[in-house]
Amino acid sequence: MRTTAKRLMLMLFITVLFIVSPYVMIRGLNPTSTTARKQLSLPDPGSNSSSLAEAIFSRRSTRSFSDIPITIEDVSDLLWSTIGITIDGITGPTRASPSAGATNPLMIYLFARDVEGLAPGVYRYHSEDHSLEQVSHQEKSTELRQAALNQFAISRAQANIVIAADYAKTMDRYAIRGITFVHLEAGHAAQNAVLMAESLGLGSVIIGSFSDGLVKNLLKSDVAAPLLIISVGSL
Ligand SMILES: Cc1cc2nc3c(=O)[nH]c(=O)nc-3n(C[C@H](O)[C@H](O)[C@H](O)COP(=O)(O)O)c2cc1C
Repeated sequence: MRTTAKRLMLMLFITVLFIVSPYVMIRGLNPTSTTARKQLSLPDPGSNSSSLAEAIFSRRSTRSFSDIPITIEDVSDLLWSTIGITIDGITGPTRASPSAGATNPLMIYLFARDVEGLAPGVYRYHSEDHSLEQVSHQEKSTELRQAALNQFAISRAQANIVIAADYAKTMDRYAIRGITFVHLEAGHAAQNAVLMAESLGLGSVIIGSFSDGLVKNLLKSDVAAPLLIISVGSL
């Protein structure tokens, strides 16, 4: 009889533990739920009226563009804003966007459709000497659009920037963590480019829905893995 009572008590204890423990864990992991914290209001954003704040304020995704060509100067600023060289740093050149351990895995491509001063085609941007290497003499915005679920912003845009990466550069140093670093860096570069587009008075949209394989074929590189397309065009 005593043993049965003990067993019953033990079962009751285990049942209560099962019910209570998730609640205790959640409360423990989320300290804000137990303590009321003081809230401070901040000054309005943009109070310093910087041009960067203005670009951040006005940026929005644009998917339809006018027929006005953009210029090679626009393209120069846009590409430079991704991974372009800014100043000579201590261990090497500093770039427009940070790179984990300065491993610089990003590869930037330009699909020029209607750029004043630049023949239509596909180019790879080289940041070391701020130059373009011609990858294809043919205009490929239709192929790029088809590789991206036929998103029409791509073939309406005067130019598309493709951010790709050579993962090995970062993974050789950081192993599996390098994958995360590469993705973060693509985001940094893309954000710079869309803010640059905004400050140049152009529209832009970041496009991530595409077939990796089809876009990769257009880049003609064994190592470049495409991560993002940025369509840029006149408003
Ligand atoms: C990683 C990423 C992938 C995206 N992919 C697409 C896309 O394939 N097609 C598209 O039209 N917009 C795409 N967008 C744009 C988002 O739809 C857009 O940023 C979102 O709707 C918010 O609108 P806003 O940029 O005007 O603030 C993407 C944005 C990000 C950050």
